[in-house]
Amino acid sequence: MAILKPQIYILDFGSQYTHLIARRIRQLNVYSEIKLPTVSLEEIKDAKGIILSGGPASVYDKTAVKYNPEIFKLKIPILGLCYGQQLMAQALGGKVSPGEVKEYGFAELEIEKKKKSRLFAGLKNTEIVWMSHGDYVSKLPKEFEAIGSTKDCKAAAFENKKQKRFGLQFHPEVTHTPNGMKIIGNFVKICKCKKNWTMHNYLKQAISDMREKVGKRNVFMLISGGVDSTVAFALLNKALGSKRVYGLNIDNGFLRLNEAEWIVKKMKSCCYANFHQADASYEFLDAVRKITDPEQKRKVIGKVFIDVQRKVLQSLKLDHDDWLLGQGTIYPDTIETQGTKHADLIKTHHNRVEIIQQMIKKGKIIEPLMHLYKDEVRELGKELRLPADLIWRQPFPGPGLAVRVLCAKKASPIKNVNKINRTLNAIGKFHDVTGFVVPIKSVGVQGDNRTYRHPAVIIGNSSWDTLFKVSGDLTNKVREINRAIFLLYPGKIDPKKLKIKETYLTKQRLDLLRKVTAIVDKAVKQKRVGMRIWQFPVVLAPISLRGGESIILRPVYSKEAMTAEFAKIPWPVVKLIVKKIMKVRGIDAVFYDVTNKPPATIEWE
Ligand code: XMP
Repeated sequence: MAILKPQIYILDFGSQYTHLIARRIRQLNVYSEIKLPTVSLEEIKDAKGIILSGGPASVYDKTAVKYNPEIFKLKIPILGLCYGQQLMAQALGGKVSPGEVKEYGFAELEIEKKKKSRLFAGLKNTEIVWMSHGDYVSKLPKEFEAIGSTKDCKAAAFENKKQKRFGLQFHPEVTHTPNGMKIIGNFVKICKCKKNWTMHNYLKQAISDMREKVGKRNVFMLISGGVDSTVAFALLNKALGSKRVYGLNIDNGFLRLNEAEWIVKKMKSCCYANFHQADASYEFLDAVRKITDPEQKRKVIGKVFIDVQRKVLQSLKLDHDDWLLGQGTIYPDTIETQGTKHADLIKTHHNRVEIIQQMIKKGKIIEPLMHLYKDEVRELGKELRLPADLIWRQPFPGPGLAVRVLCAKKASPIKNVNKINRTLNAIGKFHDVTGFVVPIKSVGVQGDNRTYRHPAVIIGNSSWDTLFKVSGDLTNKVREINRAIFLLYPGKIDPKKLKIKETYLTKQRLDLLRKVTAIVDKAVKQKRVGMRIWQFPVVLAPISLRGGESIILRPVYSKEAMTAEFAKIPWPVVKLIVKKIMKVRGIDAVFYDVTNKPPATIEWE
């Protein structure tokens, strides 16, 4: 039963941010739908507008995404974003060229106020916008005019007023474009959309969809104790009744201190008699014993989840064909695992490993929150009357602390290390800091692509402002790095004396990280600095100075985890945290990750 009808169609060219566009439109109480660019005109015949997303490719790539050029004949407004803007320019007779400067991050957009574009109604003459691109539009199609420019991009925004065609080189859908929402709101107005999206409507639609999809079958659900799986479980209970839903929490040994007990207590308080817990920490630890590669770690952990779940199903004698697997997957989980046809793989989330992908193809998986973002899930949780402390838990990855304990067989080789360090220091000099590159690696996302690169250590000037600038400068200009970490303790490090310890995933290391994480959580709570923090991963890395290891603090501000800014905690609290951590045996150094997302991801692996 269609309760919600789409008004705008978003054609997906593989950007990390495509679903974010749909979400922004939902925030305006308008429902939109995402389609492949090859969509037929018949499929979108009721559209009031079209948005062309960004994407990782270049319009000149042989592998450039195929699309239906007929869309440009439609007499409805069309907005192209980033790659979508370039595609529109090229398709309509303009020219796209490779940029000399690749722009990633903040840029200043000068708006041509004289042109009086409705797309920019209510904006100032200069606006901060978020860029992530290599190519740029070097010549506009006929009857188009530039309505905004940046330092490195003359046609950063253009329009054809008469035909209601608009192109933006930047991403108005990310929160780092502070007035991006106004731009999207203006486009929705230009499309003459009516309000039709509310969480209450969504709940009604989701209940109806779940009943239809599940049919006469039942749902077996893995519950992590986090917001998403709990809300999905509550929703399924409401749609199908508790007798047809079985909830299982698997203790994988990668949980935080006392977390397994907390989860049982909470679920009991919600009166879910259909909730159970199984301890499988041994199986998980055994499976990842010798793995150092983050992707392999994620894949193996995902597989063990399924193995354990199967064993439980067998022991409970629940017939396979009658049971579907329910998952609390939310949208950002899927996008990083190449969630859309044309996107790059950033990370394999535990609920998107190969075995699950196969089950999805066979129609054995049910994911009621697939299109939502965390804060929408929280809103849905409120609609389902779940307790506040469950709804407001910080996100925690499915593979848990396993992706926060970095492992290494040996130091990861760095080509031209001296040259890189000279460049780092030459850039650092402007900011009164020194630096060096570290022979470990972590995951990043740059220009819609996954990177696996080294972090740079920054030593010296500890003002947040400087760290913000220097981290951006280093990651933009030094190809070999995707993160910058500020040294909190000790005051100095001789890079020659730093060693990368051979380390794997062991209970001992997990316990060490559990201890430090508990210290950090307690301090954050006591000092009440957690309010704005989206998530505070604490990472254990095999960077050794005196035979021990290092801790990296990674608090971030974010709205939906698609982009993030490193959090600026008051220095006295940082100092207190460091003092407490340094009392823990086995910790040699403490760093603070001062990288935004992009270029780094929130988690290190
Ligand atoms: P990154 O590190 O890619 O993470 O910036 C974005 C958000 O996703 C969380 N995350 C996961 N969540 N299963 C999950 O359910 C996973 O495998 C997983 N890996 C990362 C991460 O903590 C952040 O909130």
